[in-house]
Amino acid sequence: MNIRMQSVRPEDAEFLYRIMNDQAIRDALDETPTQPGDWVDAIAAWEDDPDEEVYIILDENTPVGWLGINGLASEGKVAYIKMIGLFPQYQNKGIGTWALRQALEMLRARGFAAAALFTNQRNLRAQGCYRKCGFQITEKFVEKRANGKLVARCKMECVF
Ligand SMILES: CC(C)(COP(=O)(O)OP(=O)(O)OC[C@H]1O[C@@H](n2cnc3c(N)ncnc32)[C@H](O)[C@@H]1OP(=O)(O)O)[C@@H](O)C(=O)NCCC(=O)NCCS
Repeated sequence: MNIRMQSVRPEDAEFLYRIMNDQAIRDALDETPTQPGDWVDAIAAWEDDPDEEVYIILDENTPVGWLGINGLASEGKVAYIKMIGLFPQYQNKGIGTWALRQALEMLRARGFAAAALFTNQRNLRAQGCYRKCGFQITEKFVEKRANGKLVARCKMECVF
């Protein structure tokens, strides 16, 4: 494997549509189905938004996952990992940890004070990845998700 990350491009819309309609990914994220055009629109919106950056995670030239950051324009210099997802066959191989460490290193170099994210309390694999990168649980709460489910969630924070 030769894992790398690059900024999202308009031609990545088809990949984002595929990964975000994968049943296992949708279940992990409590997301509802989307249409290809939703991702064309999302990429165009991100391009114009100084608060957000999105990266595609590739193995050589094959896209295997994605990572999104927001809060980049926040006054408090706390960025949020709004999304990290890998196709199931690429999970649990250290790729998420590698990609998140790249993102955290970039944020630290740009003067951010901390990073934060939200995840499901039952998502122990994601929490394992986040702990290895320096995140700790700082809040627990219940939230209604896009698919209508009430889900036990937690906030995790990593202070640089
Ligand atoms: C979450 C995700 C990005 C993590 O990336 P990953 O590459 O799978 O994670 P890594 O392999 O880098 O690290 C996972 C760690 O958790 C550990 N882990 C896995 N399952 C676990 C479990 N059930 N309980 C405790 N720890 C677990 C692993 O052993 C590993 O730690 P180790 O390397 O010390 O053994 C990826 O699994 C994913 O895309 N999941 C589906 C989408 C999702 O849940 N996204 C996050 C939403 S907040």
